[in-house]
Amino acid sequence: MHFIDEAFWIVLGREASAVERRDQLRDFDSDHTSGFVGRLLSSPEFRVMANAWKNDRETGRVLAAQEHGLRALGTDDRFVRLAYAVLQDREPDEEGLQYFVNALTAGGTRVDVVRAIVLSDEFQRRYWNITPDAGVVPTDIQLCELANPAKWDNPEWMALLRDLQTIPDHKLSMHRKSYELTQLLYALRRLGRLRDDTSVLSVGAGHECVLYWLANHVGRVVATDLYEGIWQSVGAREGDEHVLTAPEEYAPFEYRRDRLTFRKMDGRHLEFEDGTFDVAYSLSSIEHFGGLAGAKEAVDEMARVVRRGGILALATEYILSGPPHPEAFRPVEVHDVLNRPGLRLVQPIDEAVYQRYEYAAVDLYQNPHQTPHMVVRMNETVFTSVFAVLERQ
Ligand SMILES: C[S@@+](CC[C@H](N)C(=O)[O-])C[C@H]1O[C@@H](n2cnc3c(N)ncnc32)[C@H](O)[C@@H]1O
Repeated sequence: MHFIDEAFWIVLGREASAVERRDQLRDFDSDHTSGFVGRLLSSPEFRVMANAWKNDRETGRVLAAQEHGLRALGTDDRFVRLAYAVLQDREPDEEGLQYFVNALTAGGTRVDVVRAIVLSDEFQRRYWNITPDAGVVPTDIQLCELANPAKWDNPEWMALLRDLQTIPDHKLSMHRKSYELTQLLYALRRLGRLRDDTSVLSVGAGHECVLYWLANHVGRVVATDLYEGIWQSVGAREGDEHVLTAPEEYAPFEYRRDRLTFRKMDGRHLEFEDGTFDVAYSLSSIEHFGGLAGAKEAVDEMARVVRRGGILALATEYILSGPPHPEAFRPVEVHDVLNRPGLRLVQPIDEAVYQRYEYAAVDLYQNPHQTPHMVVRMNETVFTSVFAVLERQ
């Protein structure tokens, strides 16, 4: 049997396919096999098997077939030497050789010999050198952007979404609201603002679930909202004033009650001293504060009550195409709202997301509950959410 076939059995526990054998043979050098073995050891296929062994789980291989393949590699003595050559890149010492040969003579399996070598400290050190960052898939970490489907492929981001406990995590349930909530937590974490001495203000807060999550992760959270008018009855009754007296009735999980307070307040006239908070944020709200002027007033107020070096995070409606809408902003208006004195975007906004994604815009009049729900439309106005993080200068 050719070394290529033998190494496939030892490392991957299976036969090399004809195409694999052909491709490996093309630049195979029998005097320098480490490159070829390194490729096999670096494969995700081996990683899955080695991880299964490490965690005492099934590898997914049919054991009898794997054992049969390993049995075809010659005598026990030759097999152990070969396993050492492939996995440890050395001859076995006499003691190790005898130990494994005796184990096989006593009825042990060759799969168990490979497994024992793979789990040895020596192999783990070698493996770590060959593939130090195996399994680290490049992820999208942008903070300022249009609601971005790529975040559903970011494990750290998804862990936060799941931690909110109220949001389905299937990609088919993808929703720009889930995006805004999770992106806020993600941005605060990446910017190092989830600390026990951080104070956070939410404007147009309603009873959003992130308030309760933040109460468990920062020092103090103050939720403000008008808590009156149409938001008492429309949509998910986000502005329900009942939360002022019974906040626990809206909590998705246990939270530190002493860390979270709700106050009735107009976002355009915040009743706080300058520089009171480390963070101020507002999700899906400022577009309802009275057009461009109302949104700018609220952003200026948020900037005022945040200390220098503090953070403002904003999610609002961003029109991708079609005519203007009274409660959504055209790109130029979004920049107008964000470009306020004393504020600086922490990074440029990625506004090209929907130039590279194919998508269906959910018709809010016809199918308001349809998901994925990342881009929506009201008649001909097509819009999504924009998320911006700014630093108070
Ligand atoms: C679409 S809801 C969003 C609520 C919450 N941020 C969320 O994401 O679930 C808009 C909120 O803005 C509030 N609101 C409207 N005008 C406001 C104002 N001038 N000041 C403060 N809040 C206001 C409403 O009461 C409502 O709760």
